[in-house]
Amino acid sequence: MTQRVAIICGGRSSEHEISCISAGGVLAAIDRSAYEPVLIGITKTGAWVLIPTDHTMTIENGVLPTVPTDAPAVIADVAGFSCEGKDLKIDIVFPLLHGPYGEDGTIQGLLEMADIAYVGAGVLASAVAMDKSFAKPIFAAHGIATAPGLVVKAAEWKSDSDTITKSISALGYPVFVKPARGGSSRGTTKVKSEAQLAAAIAEAHSFDSKAMVEKAIVGSEIECAILEIAGVPQASVVGKILIDSKFEFYDFEAKYLDGATSIELPAAINQAAADKIRVSAIQAFRALGCSGLARVDFFLTESGEVIINELNTMPGFTATSVFPKMWAATGISYSEVITHLLQGAEKRTNGVLGN
Ligand SMILES: Nc1ncnc2c1ncn2[C@@H]1O[C@H](COP(=O)(O)OP(=O)(O)O)[C@@H](O)[C@H]1O
Ligand SMILES: [Mg+2]
Repeated sequence: MTQRVAIICGGRSSEHEISCISAGGVLAAIDRSAYEPVLIGITKTGAWVLIPTDHTMTIENGVLPTVPTDAPAVIADVAGFSCEGKDLKIDIVFPLLHGPYGEDGTIQGLLEMADIAYVGAGVLASAVAMDKSFAKPIFAAHGIATAPGLVVKAAEWKSDSDTITKSISALGYPVFVKPARGGSSRGTTKVKSEAQLAAAIAEAHSFDSKAMVEKAIVGSEIECAILEIAGVPQASVVGKILIDSKFEFYDFEAKYLDGATSIELPAAINQAAADKIRVSAIQAFRALGCSGLARVDFFLTESGEVIINELNTMPGFTATSVFPKMWAATGISYSEVITHLLQGAEKRTNGVLGN
């Protein structure tokens, strides 16, 4: 018998459209002999709707897909999911949502209350990974190097910017200033001198009242995908982000402008560095108590130092996103990745407290 899988996409975050493209990819690749997909969308204003599975969820004539606002409403509560009075009979949920209200433990909490199996990290791991100020000390406690830095809350900056500025100078410029709970490089600035600091902190605080200031790490950006297979987290081959030299760093434009970046797979780095990154990625996954999948992003310095930057519990998941590409390069197809995730979801190891 096939299981009914609710693919949830869209959402209130700035990554609404990317999430829809990911849903389109999963719809096209899911093994229909085992799974029957049900497409649930969250509109940009937060309404839940049932979307026909033949709705266009790909880029058509340059137009990005979104969740339609005129589809029938879905009720999601402790009893599960229903539409127009009928139980949607969902067995497994695939929350293909990025950022706040998707990747931060909130929807995971709703699914726990409803006692429905779901793909990916549980409540705690999702919430911790979303907030870099919590994830970093946990990585460090597990022996994974992180960039030196400090947390700057808006209220503290307002009351004592002089002392904070001194601490930042002690790190040494350039520094990166970014929101603690950001994504897509939004609100992130490379600051080369003290004169540019206040504007960068104001920019980060316009996204999040908690900002991170970090010493700028000089090195390449290397990513590793983790997939749990039969309960064991496995690391993919690692990929190196190649950024057009006109960009100062991997900023929003570099990420989303056509052709601005590509990924070198496998990364042309020495075997010892690649192995260290793969081992560190699994350590990071375990350190946060993740489940199912994660993309773990690192810096590799010229001297061979491996420094973790962040862990994403629901990375971009379109057919052409880095995560599926890294698995394809490792020998596991997009469809197989989806099947591993759905099989893992049924084991319910994510729980409220995570793995
Ligand atoms: N400490 C740092 N040193 C060097 N580059 C950094 C640092 N922090 C952030 N960056 C740059 O900014 C980008 C976005 O920062 P990141 O922490 O990954 O946030 P996001 O969650 O928005 O992806 C990184 O991919 C990298 O290019
Ligand atoms: Mg990042």
